[in-house]
Amino acid sequence: MPVINRVAEMQDQVAEWRRHLHQNPELLYDVHETSKFVAEKLRSFGCDIVETGIGKTGVVGIIKGSQGDGPVIGFRADMDALPIFETSGKAWASRTPGKAHSCGHDGHTAMLLGAAQYLAETRNFKGSVAVIFQPAEEGGAGALAMINDGLMEKFGIRQVYGMHNEPRLPVGNFAIRKGSTMAAADTFEITIHGRGSHAAQPHLSIDPILAASHIVVALQSIVSRETDPLKSLVVTVASIHGGEANNVIPAFVKLGGTVRTLLPETRDFAEKRLAEVAQSTAIAHGATAEVAYRRGYPVTFNHDGETDFAVEIASRVAGPKAVATDVPPHMGAEDFSYMLEKRPGAFIFIGNGDTASLHNAAYDFNDEAIPYGVSYWVTLAETALSAQAA
Ligand code: NI
Repeated sequence: MPVINRVAEMQDQVAEWRRHLHQNPELLYDVHETSKFVAEKLRSFGCDIVETGIGKTGVVGIIKGSQGDGPVIGFRADMDALPIFETSGKAWASRTPGKAHSCGHDGHTAMLLGAAQYLAETRNFKGSVAVIFQPAEEGGAGALAMINDGLMEKFGIRQVYGMHNEPRLPVGNFAIRKGSTMAAADTFEITIHGRGSHAAQPHLSIDPILAASHIVVALQSIVSRETDPLKSLVVTVASIHGGEANNVIPAFVKLGGTVRTLLPETRDFAEKRLAEVAQSTAIAHGATAEVAYRRGYPVTFNHDGETDFAVEIASRVAGPKAVATDVPPHMGAEDFSYMLEKRPGAFIFIGNGDTASLHNAAYDFNDEAIPYGVSYWVTLAETALSAQAA
């Protein structure tokens, strides 16, 4: 069963929604008009429950099947845009300068709306489908906010599936991998406290600039000498701020940066060693280091059984040759990871063909991918919740 006929008929409608969302991008949790649009559509489709305000501006629609009781599975789309000046030149380009749907979340939202409409029309399954529309994927942890508002328990969600478009992967293709799929993204700030003095009297100072320089170098050994080369770790010092004048040794220096990992144990290790190396190197120079380490999105970890199932569904939609099952992980991050920490599930990439790369000002979601995305959701629901399924 490739792309479903009814879904192919819906393409123009779904593309129209997508372009409407694209013209009206909103950031982080301020997706008020987008969630209103989503909730109105879900109501017009006849969803059994439409609940707004979960995780501030998140929306959930519940569609009950017509074939009796069964589990609830959750499908998630993200709704927020990015603070970017769009240069796509498309007729439906952003109407708000400085905000743009440059990650394709407009496409994700429109495709899940298309699936919700189809499933509410046909209801050819048992149990229920929860369509989850989250705010603030781009750095605001909207998925976590929805979880903290009781998303999983309130609707009895047993499994979760997510999808992201991928430029350069041809339209009609899917890509996925088991296990760690996207990185955990943490940030750190290190403040090195010394003692300021005249730059001509360094012996009266504790020079935080020299200590900071040694710390930047010493941190490199965490990756190069302490971590298994086959276990991905990035430690990047991305900013150094200290001093104002050529003849003054300052009292303190601030370093900032990011740590990216694919395994929880590498993440724990990097966090611990970053603090130890910074503090002990500072002490070696008579200074002290204060380390603030902030954990961001966790690793996006695909569960084995659900990944196999996602591969089976994508293969039915696109043909087995169009589904890559062991693609390399991305060092970018994705907050669907929080949902995968709570429930088993899988996150799949859908080909978006010849478009600019994600987060690029010229990017525009490729509407040709719509039938594949909608068919994936629909086939997943009807198979996971078929009357024959255990
Ligand atoms: Ni994205």
